[in-house]
Amino acid sequence: MKIHAPYGGVVPELASREHLRAIVPVARRALEEASLTLGQLQAIAVTAGPGLIGSLLVGITYAKALALSHSLPLLAVNHVEGHIHSVLLQNPEISFPALALVVSGGHTHLFEVREVGDYQLVGKTRDDAAGEAFDKVAKLLGYGYPGGPLIDRLAPFGNPRAVKFTLAKMKGNESDFSFSGLKTAVLRWTEQQDITHEIANRKRIKSANFEAWLEATPQRTLDMLASFQATVIQELLGRSLAAAEKLGAESILVAGGVASNSGLRKAAATQRHVRFYFPSAELSTDNAAMIAAAAFPKYQQGESAGLELRARAGLMLA
Ligand code: KG4
Ligand code: ZN
Repeated sequence: MKIHAPYGGVVPELASREHLRAIVPVARRALEEASLTLGQLQAIAVTAGPGLIGSLLVGITYAKALALSHSLPLLAVNHVEGHIHSVLLQNPEISFPALALVVSGGHTHLFEVREVGDYQLVGKTRDDAAGEAFDKVAKLLGYGYPGGPLIDRLAPFGNPRAVKFTLAKMKGNESDFSFSGLKTAVLRWTEQQDITHEIANRKRIKSANFEAWLEATPQRTLDMLASFQATVIQELLGRSLAAAEKLGAESILVAGGVASNSGLRKAAATQRHVRFYFPSAELSTDNAAMIAAAAFPKYQQGESAGLELRARAGLMLA
């Protein structure tokens, strides 16, 4: 985050260089902490996609080398399936069919999970991902990157009913999501409020200290941010709940970076007819445990990807 923050987003070239620098020491430390040696492993799992091609290539090349040199099966995992397993791993009691809402900087996808390994795409964003909407609104208002965690912390200081944002009207698949209209509405709000000065002030803040951000945010902006977040939550929960009812699903798994949003978690906890499941804080962001968890059923079924495995930036789950 520190490396990418000055650029206002992830820089692919820097990301792959960091992967290259970190992959060996991180894998070594993970083995050390688990008191394991490479020789004790039964398989090597790796993310095949979707994601940034350079970073995927680093992981896949390293995983192939480990698998080849230790004669282990190589298992290819879809990153999005990994996120779903971050929730399944900690909640083995979840019954199927379930819905999985994957919300991150790159995804806002709703899947029907008929059973582990059987996914059907129910809906997805037609424009921005939910995390992207958080990040873009934060950037527009002069905050740092990533914007989601910061807006999450600022929102409780504002009135979520102060600014009336309307939800997207969806023609066709009503389980699709849209956030670009909301983003435009925020832009229009900033123009009407004439807050150029306020935004310029925030852009001068260099430290990532929360108190400094809070102090640089007047009440009207806190109110708008609270209203923006409430609208995103309503869009996510409303469409997920409607889809769950239609499909007869009693569980909704929420995963990906935006799953750590505290407003979303609070609103989900008040739902009566459906039970929401979230990953613990350490499994909410991208991690390797979820990739191993997604690979395990594949390992049990004797799957192996082979050394011809290729990275696929646009790999789809369903
Ligand atoms: O899954 P993730 O760590 O990375 C990928 O995009 O794959 O998700 C990162 C995204 C960013 O857009 C970030 O702003 C958002 O998740 N995010 C949040 C929160 N924490 C992270 N959005 C809202 N509230 C949060 N607490
Ligand atoms: Zn992710």
